[in-house]
Amino acid sequence: MNKRFTAGSADKYVLYQKAVQSAEQDVEFLFNTYKALRGGEPTHMREDFCGTCLLSCYWVKLHHRNTTESYDIDPEPLRWGYDHNLAPLGNDRDRVAQYQEDARTPSRRSPDVRCAQNFSYWVFKTRAEMLDYFKGVQADLAEGGIFVVDLHGGPESIQELEEETEQDDESFTYVWDQDKVNPINGHAQMHIHFRFPDGSEMTNAFSYEWRLWGLPELIDIFHDAGFSSVDCYWEGTDEDGESGNGEFEVSTEGEACLSYVAYLVGQK
Ligand SMILES: C[S@@+](CC[C@H](N)C(=O)[O-])C[C@H]1O[C@@H](n2cnc3c(N)ncnc32)[C@H](O)[C@@H]1O
Repeated sequence: MNKRFTAGSADKYVLYQKAVQSAEQDVEFLFNTYKALRGGEPTHMREDFCGTCLLSCYWVKLHHRNTTESYDIDPEPLRWGYDHNLAPLGNDRDRVAQYQEDARTPSRRSPDVRCAQNFSYWVFKTRAEMLDYFKGVQADLAEGGIFVVDLHGGPESIQELEEETEQDDESFTYVWDQDKVNPINGHAQMHIHFRFPDGSEMTNAFSYEWRLWGLPELIDIFHDAGFSSVDCYWEGTDEDGESGNGEFEVSTEGEACLSYVAYLVGQK
């Protein structure tokens, strides 16, 4: 058993990147979806709510022409991301431009692909705020550009519960804590904790105050924001028909599962 990590010694951003993010697959999804819809290859990507800029770094690694703009209001993950994700890229790091600015700030250069991952755009708690953000994104995209967001849903996503996921190498357990959910306005308080084999715990390593948004209402907001079309990419199932297979395809009919993650892709 790997007992390397303890609450006292572990770096919360290392744990987050390991447990939460699948940056390589996400970037392939962004690149391939644009290519499938538009024929050509995208070059300029914008990562909103970028945190440690992991996605941006994978984007520039994908092709020597690729560039990004990465926006987050918190200097701490940006600095960590510079030291741990950008610096190892050497000269290629110049193709990632970090901005400690609000996600609603217009881009320096219109992106072919703009994304907001891991539900972070749920900081916008009213329809008016979400519509304003989506309208800004629509206007900001390059001709033929796409906007990609992920979301989670299903009855389990609106319950107060804790979900534990042990890492394959047993080095730590990731805990997603849906701590408080107000069914009237959809406001929710979420936390991430990490538990370690020595019994220690990093409590509230990350906390979020979000509104829980549903698929149909987000699709409506895409349309109202002026996107010419919006598609839902739904996850396929494994051979056993029980669990997701990690392959997302355009779908207009999904299965009413207890919990799911999906993508919405809006075209300018
Ligand atoms: C859940 S983390 C997402 C990190 C990363 N994008 C990912 O996929 O895992 C949310 C991030 O959004 C940032 N954030 C919150 N409100 C923001 C805003 N209005 N504009 C830009 N960044 C914001 C926070 O600082 C935090 O780093």
